[in-house]
Amino acid sequence: FDPEPIAGDLLAWYDAHARDLPWRVSPAARAAGVRPDPYRVWLSEVMLQQTTVAAVRDYFHRFTMLWPDVGALAAAGDGAVMGEWAGLGYYARARNLLKCARFVTGELNGRFPDSHDALLRLPGVGPYTAAAIAAIAFDRPETVMDGNVERVMARLHDIETPLPTAKPELKARAAGHTPAERPGDYAQAVMDLGATICTPKSPACGICPLRDRCRSRAAGTAPGLPKKTPK
Ligand code: ADE
Repeated sequence: FDPEPIAGDLLAWYDAHARDLPWRVSPAARAAGVRPDPYRVWLSEVMLQQTTVAAVRDYFHRFTMLWPDVGALAAAGDGAVMGEWAGLGYYARARNLLKCARFVTGELNGRFPDSHDALLRLPGVGPYTAAAIAAIAFDRPETVMDGNVERVMARLHDIETPLPTAKPELKARAAGHTPAERPGDYAQAVMDLGATICTPKSPACGICPLRDRCRSRAAGTAPGLPKKTPK
């Protein structure tokens, strides 16, 4: 089917229902042309690797209170940063966070790169995080893939192939829906949909903005998708 209306429906839903998260720009500010701060987008996406939004919120507040920009974080002591990170887990992320802050401050004049390829060269930034920062902070039409996006795509297109075999197909479907306008809001809309409506168990298909276009809803297969290769 035509991929175009999907992004439009998701963006309209996002405008009305986006989660209010501390690294986002409010709808009113967004309408006035305010862009997200790359430092806050980067910090939030590193924290959100392997960690839920609920767990990240308070840490994000503390970090941005203590270190409001990348230069402040670069100047922080290792012990102070590791101490504030305590409890978030996966401590290599905190070490790379500092390395990255010092690199951006020392070598890039405090400016985060705005392309996927340049972002990938930063410590602690892999393909997911590079795509997320490029899309959310710089409105680059990158396709952001995480577990939420995989689930939404598998259901929307009723893809019965199990993970991980289905990954390239899911990515191609997601890329096909990524709009040239507002790709960052679109990426966050899919993640919000996956976190709040298109949930792993008991998805709320009745209130989904994509309910009339969703192939697995029509087929009754949504709750069992995506399938996984048994171990
Ligand atoms: N998970 C990871 N990054 C996210 C974001 N920017 N919005 C919602 N969920 C996310």
